[in-house]
Amino acid sequence: MSDQPANRWDQRYDHPRYYYGEAPNAFLATHLPALPPGTLLCLAEGEGRNAVHAASLGHRVLAIDSSAVGRRKALDLAARCGVALDYRCADVVADDWALDPWHGRPWDAIALCFAHLEPADAAAMHARAAASLRPDGLLLLNSFSKAQLGRPSGGPPRLEWLHDLAELKTQFPGLVWEHAIEREVELAEGAGHRGLAMVIEMIGRRA
Ligand SMILES: C[S@@+](CC[C@H](N)C(=O)[O-])C[C@H]1O[C@@H](n2cnc3c(N)ncnc32)[C@H](O)[C@@H]1O
Repeated sequence: MSDQPANRWDQRYDHPRYYYGEAPNAFLATHLPALPPGTLLCLAEGEGRNAVHAASLGHRVLAIDSSAVGRRKALDLAARCGVALDYRCADVVADDWALDPWHGRPWDAIALCFAHLEPADAAAMHARAAASLRPDGLLLLNSFSKAQLGRPSGGPPRLEWLHDLAELKTQFPGLVWEHAIEREVELAEGAGHRGLAMVIEMIGRRA
């Protein structure tokens, strides 16, 4: 279970501005347009910037996050953008999201954008994400690497919550990596992610 309880995120999000901005994460904005419209699960989706963008591209999107304030703001953003969005306020560790809620089928794609959990929970979530993709389905992940520790540009202040590329590659059984790198990027995502940061980018396809 997260040691960042919902109320801490609710407090962070309880402001008219969006803490990570309203624009999608640059990695997802780059790669989502290449996906044929389909079902997309956004785990730990916060205020909904990526989910709303994906919906605008024609995807049928379910966002899940434990923050009720995040949910309210995501649905508000979706309404302002004129797109449909399903958003479940739930703990991604305990919730059952193996199948899409509309057809009861494994997902065409799953997005993890800065979803940093306690290590055992993260490993379990990653394995479940891999198992919840249909054959040929895609996993898109963008997160902070361990080299981000101590940088002021965002991310959890605990080494064990940050990601290691080699370890991540082992945590999604059945995925073939089409893109898996660690690199330095300039983040400009609201007030929450700003400045030079060490991130991991991964795109994996279910065999
Ligand atoms: C760094 S924010 C990223 C939000 C969003 N993905 C984005 O990039 O804008 C991390 C999010 O994880 C959510 N979160 C943390 N632990 C969670 C859990 N166990 N279940 C559901 N959501 C969780 C928080 O509520 C928060 O919205």
